[in-house]
Amino acid sequence: MLLKLINAKNTMEIGVFTGYSLLATALALPEDGKILAMDINRENYEIGLPVIEKAGVAHKIEFKEGPALPVLDQMLEDGKYHGTYDFVFVDADKDNYINYHKRLLELVKIGGLIGYDNTLWNGSVVAPPDAPMRKYVRASRVCRKWKEGVTQSLARRERLSFAGFKMDDESTARFVRYTYNLKDLDISRSCWGCQITDDGLYKISLAKCVGNLTSISLWGMTGITDEGVLKLVSRARSLQHLNIGGTFITDESLYAIATNCSQLKAINLWSCRHVTESGLIALVNQCHKLESINVWGMRIPVECFIGLLSIRPALCIKPKELHLNLARVSVSPVV
Ligand SMILES: C[S@@+](CC[C@H](N)C(=O)[O-])C[C@H]1O[C@@H](n2cnc3c(N)ncnc32)[C@H](O)[C@@H]1O
Repeated sequence: MLLKLINAKNTMEIGVFTGYSLLATALALPEDGKILAMDINRENYEIGLPVIEKAGVAHKIEFKEGPALPVLDQMLEDGKYHGTYDFVFVDADKDNYINYHKRLLELVKIGGLIGYDNTLWNGSVVAPPDAPMRKYVRASRVCRKWKEGVTQSLARRERLSFAGFKMDDESTARFVRYTYNLKDLDISRSCWGCQITDDGLYKISLAKCVGNLTSISLWGMTGITDEGVLKLVSRARSLQHLNIGGTFITDESLYAIATNCSQLKAINLWSCRHVTESGLIALVNQCHKLESINVWGMRIPVECFIGLLSIRPALCIKPKELHLNLARVSVSPVV
């Protein structure tokens, strides 16, 4: 889909193995699309080749056997390949990622894409040298310069999203610890099997950047409870936007948010069915900058929303359909 979206035609793959990703790329390219495919081992490529031929896309592939780096150097020397590639997929020796990257930046068009497989390599790029790691990760010896590149890039980031990734407590916290300039953290779950728990939120809360975060999304994280939320929000004092919809939090979390997050402007409580009127009132009473609150799917009587509006008439209560119900009930001030 990505290749189609960018209208890719001229592509490259470094690390082919039996050609699974190569076939996917070849199928996505137009009839006259091209892939320069490189691998140090032709035998493996030939195992998958009959399938590529059967799919009728072999004519798009030019396979080169041997290490990819000298080929890239040769192309740069030739001069005619600069800025000619729409897309490159790198899935070969991790130790050379930084070397590939430096060369590929020259070979890819402005607006083109470079995709790296296993960039973060199970979190090992930010792991201390003595951290326990799976054998295959340790064996990969992720190169020092790549690690440095990743940590420098994390340090500059203002936005970090793990949505869709199958993260665990330790690696998520490790990444957040390296993002000194972070403003917007999205650990919402859009992937089954996400294992972030209260312990993860606690570890994240210890990161230096947490005090500067203006936006956090914990959307759909069913493994967390009030305990973890309390720890996180107690240090997230600059928070302006919080999405905590689809979790099992109760009023305890809202009391903590009300106490700690005086800058809060918007909160999404989508389907937080254990939150009651009392938590909402505390929030609206104490967060004086609160402008918007999403209550879709909550079990709250409509009269409660009338009460919230009488505390803060300008409050935007979402979703819009709720306003039809609110209009039917007369608004009287809460004392
Ligand atoms: C993980 S496999 C590639 C899998 C393939 N991209 C896929 O998704 O089906 C990594 C491949 O990189 C190749 N490789 C390792 N070092 C390389 C190098 N220096 N240059 C080119 N290919 C290399 C290996 O031979 C191996 O086939």
